[in-house]
Amino acid sequence: MPTSRLAGRRVVVTGAGSGIGRATALRLAREGARVTALDVVPAGLAELEAEAAADPGVDGRVHTGPVDISDEQSVVAAVSAAVEAGGGLDAIVNAAAIHYGDHTHTTTLARWQRIIDVNLTGTFLMTREALPALLESEHGGVVVNFSSTSAFFAHPYMAAYAATKGAIMSFTHAIALEYADRGLRAVSLVPGGIETAITGATPANLPADVDWDKFAKLMPTLRRGKFGGPDDIAGVVAMLVSDDGRYITGTEIRVDGGTHM
Ligand SMILES: NC(=O)c1ccc[n+]([C@@H]2O[C@H](COP(=O)([O-])OP(=O)(O)OC[C@H]3O[C@@H](n4cnc5c(N)ncnc54)[C@H](O)[C@@H]3O)[C@@H](O)[C@H]2O)c1
Repeated sequence: MPTSRLAGRRVVVTGAGSGIGRATALRLAREGARVTALDVVPAGLAELEAEAAADPGVDGRVHTGPVDISDEQSVVAAVSAAVEAGGGLDAIVNAAAIHYGDHTHTTTLARWQRIIDVNLTGTFLMTREALPALLESEHGGVVVNFSSTSAFFAHPYMAAYAATKGAIMSFTHAIALEYADRGLRAVSLVPGGIETAITGATPANLPADVDWDKFAKLMPTLRRGKFGGPDDIAGVVAMLVSDDGRYITGTEIRVDGGTHM
């Protein structure tokens, strides 16, 4: 693994208290980045701080902070603090999201709205606030947004979640073209099933009459059908944020262990 391809890069990671966001924050820091790791759950950030402190490769480059990405004022405060502390910003990784399983005909408007507010509007707010600093990056700013295979292929009981993940892809395409002439790159990461808190909670979130046969085609082919781990995604994010990803923009990178060949 290259140890310093991100040396001096300043990166904000949301959803850093758990799963993919946490693994990404640690990976980017190990590769030399100064990481502002944000989350709405303080306990998750405390766990990240402990992991970072125990990892000599991180060498103090992970700095945690609170944000609720669905709250405009919280986002404004968190991004401006990160930009000020780092003296600028080179990349943002929008990993924070929530997921509920439900039948569409029993999904309440409040639940639908909450998923949109966090996943889609939260990605917009974080990106909007980061853009002025990203456009000043001497390396060319990078936005990595999180879509999902549920945006491409039918996943049962998660229409609201899937709709936000499709919209995030469209949003990412639009900003990639809008700011390409100013050196910005924008890419959607598209994970398949990855072992994290979201997947761990999914069985309990599903409707009582869940039909498990509908999940059969969601199993990966690699590793005998086992889900991937957060590190399988974090390394790809590191590549996208680095100059190794310099010719990648306005597109999606699917990392799903061959689930949808
Ligand atoms: N795990 C998978 O199988 C999978 C598959 C496809 C896409 N994804 C996407 O990957 C990303 C990371 O997911 P994960 O699996 O690591 O999930 P996770 O639940 O482990 O982590 C999500 C993090 O987001 C944080 N968060 C939630 N609401 C927030 C808010 N309002 N403000 C700030 N932080 C908030 C949570 O506290 C949590 O720490 C998500 O965008 C998810 O949709 C995951």
